[in-house]
Amino acid sequence: MNRIVVTGAAGQIGTEMVAALRARYGPEAVLATDIRIPEGSTDGPFALADVTIGDSLDAAVARHRADTIFHLAAILSAVGEQRPQKTYEVNIGGLFNVLEVARARDCAVFTPSSIAAFGPGTPTDPAPQDTIQRPNTMYGVSKVAGELLCDYYHHRFGVDTRGVRYPGLVSWRTHPGGGTTDYAVEIYLEAVRTGHYDCFLSADTQLDMMYMPDAIRAAIELMEADPGCLRHRNAFNVTAMQVTPASLAESIREHLPAFEIAYAVDPVRQAIADSWPRRIDDSAARQEWGWAPAFDVASMTADMLANLQTG
Ligand code: NAD
Ligand code: SER
Repeated sequence: MNRIVVTGAAGQIGTEMVAALRARYGPEAVLATDIRIPEGSTDGPFALADVTIGDSLDAAVARHRADTIFHLAAILSAVGEQRPQKTYEVNIGGLFNVLEVARARDCAVFTPSSIAAFGPGTPTDPAPQDTIQRPNTMYGVSKVAGELLCDYYHHRFGVDTRGVRYPGLVSWRTHPGGGTTDYAVEIYLEAVRTGHYDCFLSADTQLDMMYMPDAIRAAIELMEADPGCLRHRNAFNVTAMQVTPASLAESIREHLPAFEIAYAVDPVRQAIADSWPRRIDDSAARQEWGWAPAFDVASMTADMLANLQTG
């Protein structure tokens, strides 16, 4: 991994992935791409590229002489239910274009899947690495299709595809892009801004979460892992903690005792959350490439609040 193209570089993960990759491989080695210009300062190259247009992506990868693509462009779960056709086009069509470019130009590919690749028929506590996957959202359907496409391009064409199933990701630098787990970011923003948060999920909705520094490290460690150790390769379950809105509020009150949470449940996002597991089993990632999170709820809350209060 020497010269890298990142798609979806202006998003919640992309902004931090680009910064981490540039710190590790050098600013000029990482070409950030998106359909919109990232906010804030950029210390390396950027190009507009739409993943649904294969030629646009191919030109960026060729010009940069890339050997690796971090493919982060996607539409997330809540927006996916508002715009299912667009979600199919971007998430499945875009990944297909990325894999075709990777096949033609001999690139490795990192693609995140999600806990959304599970559905109501999946064992819920924990969801195993290999299990029933019958999601009932377009986002989930696109993630299962993506996992299978990545497997196919590896077995059929030898493309070095790798990926994880991320849980909900919590971060303070860039706002999330329209997912069901966005509440776990908004709760911190509102705790600092107003001291009150109206949550769109019910108090006891339990989902897996991870703090962004762990999510970035997981991707880079997987891409740098010895391929001979990877039995699953794509779609490794990874997690760091299980939280509910109520437990996150409790954790925030350790620092801001006056913080208040109320519940105004959104039936669409609640149904999506209810279709996902309460916990995922990430023992395959731990065994095959040594995955281990560094942040738990308490250390994530302390770091989030410190950054938001000084930022
Ligand atoms: P995001 O919505 O914050 O960012 C996605 C980016 O993709 C945006 O900047 C958007 O402009 C860009 N984009 C959209 N359509 C595009 C197109 N046609 N061509 C090029 N770029 C396009 O999403 P994110 O949270 O950064 O997620 C990145 C990846 O991680 C996605 O595959 C997502 O499914 C996965 N993931 C995210 C989470 C999470 O909690 N953030 C959890 C699990 C999996
Ligand atoms: N955070 C993502 C979402 O809620 C999960 O993939 O859509």
